[in-house]
Amino acid sequence: MKTHQAGLFEEPGRSSQYLEYQFRSASDAELRQALSQAVKPVDGANILVAFNQASWQRLGPGWSPEGLHDFTAQYSARGHVMPASQRDMFIWVVGEDRGDVMNAVVQVTEALSDIADLELDLDGYKTRDARILTGFVDGTGNPGTAEKKRAAALIPEGQPGEGGSFVLGQKWTHKLQEFLSLSVNAQENVIGRTKETNIELEGTALPPESHVGRTDIDVNDVPMKMYRRGTPYGGGEDKGLYFLAFACDMDRFVNVINSMLGKDDGITDAMMDYSDALTGSYWFMPSQDDLDAMLAG
Ligand code: HEM
Repeated sequence: MKTHQAGLFEEPGRSSQYLEYQFRSASDAELRQALSQAVKPVDGANILVAFNQASWQRLGPGWSPEGLHDFTAQYSARGHVMPASQRDMFIWVVGEDRGDVMNAVVQVTEALSDIADLELDLDGYKTRDARILTGFVDGTGNPGTAEKKRAAALIPEGQPGEGGSFVLGQKWTHKLQEFLSLSVNAQENVIGRTKETNIELEGTALPPESHVGRTDIDVNDVPMKMYRRGTPYGGGEDKGLYFLAFACDMDRFVNVINSMLGKDDGITDAMMDYSDALTGSYWFMPSQDDLDAMLAG
């Protein structure tokens, strides 16, 4: 099995920078040269890189992982929109110390400034108890063991792209005042977990329209597990969550998003009444081996 990029499973990752790039018209050699500089190891931070279908096809070895496609705008029957903002390349800088992360961000942005436009530049942070801005703990439903995380996040051995991942990135802004003005009980019914004690609502207590109700799903007896590493972002005004998830199979994203949008049964995810998606992109994060081979041309 090829090796995934360093840092993918290193938790908690208290500080992140999410960088989405659009290539300018540079030659393939110039892109590779700039990227090689951008991703050089930095103390205390990891720099992970992923590509959309067209840019992997352009720079990669001529194959793509099965099912890789761009994100297109998605709509629910009740008027929710998940807009598409598909960009060429995603860089996730992550570490525990903000200073280390910023050193890496400077390296990346300087190296890429002549060949690509920075279209999204978002800082993320994780609180000590992993609570997001709504006050709920995020990440509990992630696969529990290292082995299960790998199984959910990495393309299996023998398949094109093995050791890499499919990636979904979405910036969501919270309508925090509206959400927090609900009673705690109503907030818990939106999410599907208790707020203070972080316990999943079980059985008939779990509303079908709750976020957990829409996302904890099986398709053909296969649990649609993914590995989520997104965090809160923002300041006094715009604030929300950068949703970042890794999957072994593109269908996991497609199926969970369809469920959130009520594509099969018309039941939409109540969470979307209190947060708006502002961006959406799919990428392929190659294994370290495939990334090295691509950078070597
Ligand atoms: C504003 C956006 C979002 C917020 C605030 C949010 C928040 C949460 C929270 C609080 C939980 C429960 C705790 C946990 O298990 O981690 C959760 C679970 C989950 N979310 Fe989200 N989420 C958002 C968007 C999304 C999106 C876009 C997807 C998928 C495309 C998604 C997929 C999941 C999954 C798979 C679970 C775990 C369900 C389980 O197996 O228990 N979330 N989310």
